Amino acid sequence: MTTLIKNGTVVTSGGTYSADVLIEGEKIAAIGQSLEAGDAEIIDARGKHVLPGGIDVHTHLDMPFGGTMSSDDFASGQVAAAFGGTTTHLDFVIQPRGASLAQALDLWHGKARDKAAIDYGFHVAITDLTESILDEIATLPEHGVSSIKLFLAYKGTLQVDDTTLFRALGRARDAGVMTMVHAENGDAIEVLVREAVAAGNLAPIHHALTRPPQLEGEATGRAIAMAEVQDAPLYIVHLTCEDALVRVQEARQRGAPVWAETCTQYLFFTKDDLDREGFEGAKYVCSPPFREGKDQELLWAALRDDDLSVVSTDHCPFYYSSQKTLGRDDFSQIPNGIPGIEDRMMVLHEAGVNGGRFDLERFVALTATNPAKLFGLAGRKGSIAPGFDADLAIWDMNVERTIGLTNHSAVDYNLYEGMTVHGVPETVLVRGRVIVDGDRFLGRSGYGQYLRRERVGGAARQVLTVGSPGS
Ligand code: URP
Ligand code: ZN
Ligand code: ZN
Repeated sequence: MTTLIKNGTVVTSGGTYSADVLIEGEKIAAIGQSLEAGDAEIIDARGKHVLPGGIDVHTHLDMPFGGTMSSDDFASGQVAAAFGGTTTHLDFVIQPRGASLAQALDLWHGKARDKAAIDYGFHVAITDLTESILDEIATLPEHGVSSIKLFLAYKGTLQVDDTTLFRALGRARDAGVMTMVHAENGDAIEVLVREAVAAGNLAPIHHALTRPPQLEGEATGRAIAMAEVQDAPLYIVHLTCEDALVRVQEARQRGAPVWAETCTQYLFFTKDDLDREGFEGAKYVCSPPFREGKDQELLWAALRDDDLSVVSTDHCPFYYSSQKTLGRDDFSQIPNGIPGIEDRMMVLHEAGVNGGRFDLERFVALTATNPAKLFGLAGRKGSIAPGFDADLAIWDMNVERTIGLTNHSAVDYNLYEGMTVHGVPETVLVRGRVIVDGDRFLGRSGYGQYLRRERVGGAARQVLTVGSPGS
């Protein structure tokens, strides 16, 4: 099938220009002026912007967590992603204790295979590092996996110790695998949580008060120190605060192969939101917790200045009415996580680009190009150039929309409800096929492909400096 997108404004991380985009089958075949293709299906993009489909490298679909399951599966979560202009996501496989990494991967392939409508890949979160698991890290690229994750928090469930972190970093480096960390000091947090509960401090606000920013800063610095000793690439997930950011900035100034993301929600909400009337604060419980306004301003500046490389969602929804309530009498039992996969691109565009904090090219870098380069999808996803997959979102920047209470996620609240945005993705293509057209979902379960990703090394290291058109 041939598709020709006519008269649009094409945006990449390296430039913005008027052009037609010709798609042959699943790939971008040509970009140029006044392109013709006799039998092509024409999409008229006059007055609109053609952006690379978003890549969300931090999602938790159908994940067992906090005594329950995240409420979006690969069907509902991916439909929500598509309506938000996201065409690829990387989800976290969680190694069940005692299971091999291959077994864990099989489990997640089973969750995704028949439901996927957009393309996806997996990171593997290691929770139980035996000698054989250590050896298995080297085999991950054969499974198309080029990133592992270690949790330095969630003591007693997902948390690993420093020995595990240090050894895994070395093996991952040798295998061309990126190590990702959830950087909070879980041991100290556990003490604070127990003390708070014993003192009868049980409301949602105590989630934030027992996870202070210093403990994120400490864990971030510790992970960076170990990665530098191992000369291993490191990616800090969901960075929230100044204490952690300064560690990343210093490491990057030293030339260390360290990158970090923040997530959309940390730019919009603060710790005060956990103190809302009644039990409303539970809707805002995620880890690390929301911080202060001054942290948000630093995060925005770091996104502009390239101290932060990516904005992802950490999409991990739970129903307020039936899941967040597990912690009604005790904040420590509230499942940690919030929805956002559908909103990421629109609210970031509104506050980031329309708000004058960075330009549209930087928006593309943060939401698509850098994620692709860091996670082994360079040359295939994350930009608009001949040979790339035709994953595209055609945005109408003249549309004003107020975000509603529910969207396409399987969840009963939306933190962004009531926010007005100017600019929405109207038509979304995955590998040349239109899957969203206005409010119609045209995708199909099973169309989404598992992405076998390249080893991480050269391309990831260059993200610090590279930004050429089409790259
Ligand atoms: O609260 C969060 N972030 N839940 C998802 C798991 C994680 O820590 O990323
Ligand atoms: Zn985390
Ligand atoms: Zn997460």
